[in-house]
Amino acid sequence: MLTVENANLHYGAAQALRGISVKAEMGKITCVLGRNGVGKSSLLRAITGQHPLSAGTVTFNDTKLNGLPPFARAKQGIGYVPQGREIFPLLTVKENLETGFAPLGRRDRNIPDDIFSLFPVLKSMLSRRGGDLSGGQQQQLAIG
Ligand SMILES: Nc1ncnc2c1ncn2[C@@H]1O[C@H](COP(=O)(O)OP(=O)(O)O)[C@@H](O)[C@H]1O
Ligand SMILES: [Mg+2]
Repeated sequence: MLTVENANLHYGAAQALRGISVKAEMGKITCVLGRNGVGKSSLLRAITGQHPLSAGTVTFNDTKLNGLPPFARAKQGIGYVPQGREIFPLLTVKENLETGFAPLGRRDRNIPDDIFSLFPVLKSMLSRRGGDLSGGQQQQLAIG
């Protein structure tokens, strides 16, 4: 379970989130909807640790994430596919996928076949640079 409680988030003096609480249960899909600029991406950046909360807590499976840097949250299993993709354009497709290995032990460091079942095109482009893929292919790579 991922829980956000009473979250406030500021950009300088401007407040982007005010008293936001969300619960996302394991095995379910939780959707946050809202018009442009209401703070959806800010909420996700607070969950991944890319922007600090000014008040409130983020908890994942009983571990409080507040104060942990993004890489430590990734180790706990927090991932984020941002709008705009943000893959590594100069790394190959294979190297981009391997960036997900960081929290894994040596034995678990292989790219699961599920990714290529979902996105067969990635398998045929493993040695291409991420930045040379089309927009849609880059989105597939980001999800992978
Ligand atoms: N880096 C930033 N610096 C200052 N203000 C920001 C920044 N990012 C977002 N904002 C502002 O915070 C509010 C929420 O933005 P955002 O979370 O991107 O909304 P959404 O994803 O719901 O469209 C908006 O008013 C936006 O202008
Ligand atoms: Mg957004």
